[in-house]
Amino acid sequence: MSTNRLPPSRHLTLVPAVVLTLAALAGCTPAPLPVAEQKAAPTASEAPVYKPVVSINDIMVSVIDHNSHILWNAGDPKRAPKNDQDWHNLEHAAVTIAAAGNMILMPGTGPNDAGWVREKDWIKFTEGQTEAALAAMKAVDAKDLKALLAAGDTLVGSCEACHAKFKTDIPKHVAKPLEQPEHFGKK
Ligand code: HEC
Repeated sequence: MSTNRLPPSRHLTLVPAVVLTLAALAGCTPAPLPVAEQKAAPTASEAPVYKPVVSINDIMVSVIDHNSHILWNAGDPKRAPKNDQDWHNLEHAAVTIAAAGNMILMPGTGPNDAGWVREKDWIKFTEGQTEAALAAMKAVDAKDLKALLAAGDTLVGSCEACHAKFKTDIPKHVAKPLEQPEHFGKK
């Protein structure tokens, strides 16, 4: 059997427009489906199947670390946000880190990924990271630099806590000067 199942959004096309309209009128709370439609709702076995595509380490370097540095750089007076574009970039970074929490709760292609995501502490550290990213999103919404830097400090704490326990080796794919210019003396 194929493991390529339809994503759940495709099932929406089966729902008559009237149901969608009712849902929209109800402020996105889905209206109860008529009995006939309930039978057509996806069963557990039709739930989307997530296939490993990249490793958790790749997500660390290219998604989490990359965007964390964008947030942390706001603490450098030379790079503090000055205009709407700067705040927009910070919003992008904060939302990406918040969303990436779920990405590292799914095993990727890394040899240790499947074991890590089942560990209680892994889940706890990931939640800490997501909470910090949500606080950063709130700070960006309010254009509150002080709150953003405080969220950035909490964020560092979540990285360090998890690395202390789980990042026992230096992986092959490490963050490079473009991601972390400050670590390489290039500002
Ligand atoms: C839930 C655990 C966890 C959290 C939270 C976490 N990391 Fe990681 N990170 C790891 C593990 C484990 C590795 C090593 C992966 C491997 O070896 O395959 C890693 C690898 C990395 C790497 C690549 C290796 C290197 O030294 O360059 C970077 C960069 C990184 N993490 C940055 C961060 C940053 C920044 C944060 C916080 C914003 C963070 N990580 C949060 C577990 C975590």
